[in-house]
Amino acid sequence: MVQKRGRGRIMRLKEKYPGVFSDGNDYYTLNADRGKSVYGERIVTIGSKEYRCWEPARSKLSAAIHRGLSKFPIKKDDRILYLGAASGTTASHISEITKREVFAVEFAERPFRSLIKISEKRENLMPILGNARLPLQYRHIVPEVDLVYQDIAQRDQVDIFLKNMGFFNAERGVLMLKARSVDVSEKPKKVFQRVADELSEYTKIEQTINLKPYEKDHMAFIVKA
Ligand SMILES: C[S@@+](CC[C@H](N)C(=O)[O-])C[C@H]1O[C@@H](n2cnc3c(N)ncnc32)[C@H](O)[C@@H]1O
Repeated sequence: MVQKRGRGRIMRLKEKYPGVFSDGNDYYTLNADRGKSVYGERIVTIGSKEYRCWEPARSKLSAAIHRGLSKFPIKKDDRILYLGAASGTTASHISEITKREVFAVEFAERPFRSLIKISEKRENLMPILGNARLPLQYRHIVPEVDLVYQDIAQRDQVDIFLKNMGFFNAERGVLMLKARSVDVSEKPKKVFQRVADELSEYTKIEQTINLKPYEKDHMAFIVKA
């Protein structure tokens, strides 16, 4: 446990999950780039260490934690393939949790430039400009991984996820599913059920977490291969 005295109150952070700290309300990871925030998140200093607040309105994994994620899916020695990294909001926190590589795939050049910037101070964060539909594009860089984390708002997001899980022999996976991208005309509840049926054919679903009110029509699927 670490604590800080400031403005008349004592702040305590407890390691709630490996590499993830909490003051009872918010969650934090240890900042790998002292003095700098990645997306405007709050920074707190306690003793010689600095922590970045993991904002649930900005990161779906933090939203899942706030909404009752029962078993944290990331371990400190996990090698991770992250699909749909954008400018690295969530990937930056994940790279502060695991000591091993986080291979972060993004196909849009603009967010990719920001991703490169934040990876300069995070040695284990490896940005890859590539299309997650085509794992052969990055197969020469990415070895087998422990976990695939995916946050891609595409119609074929389940296919992309299962393809990468198999390709890189992942034993665990986290799929952040946006129902409206899979089928805009169908009720999200029905899409979630259809996706659960499809995932169940190839994986074991450990938990599903609806991300509202942080994200509308999104479900987190935590799976095992
Ligand atoms: C919702 S954003 C991701 C936000 C990010 N995961 C976070 O929490 O910080 C989705 C990202 O997926 C990217 N994307 C969509 N389709 C992709 C594909 N086929 N391959 C790689 N990236 C893709 C988009 O360019 C976009 O940046």
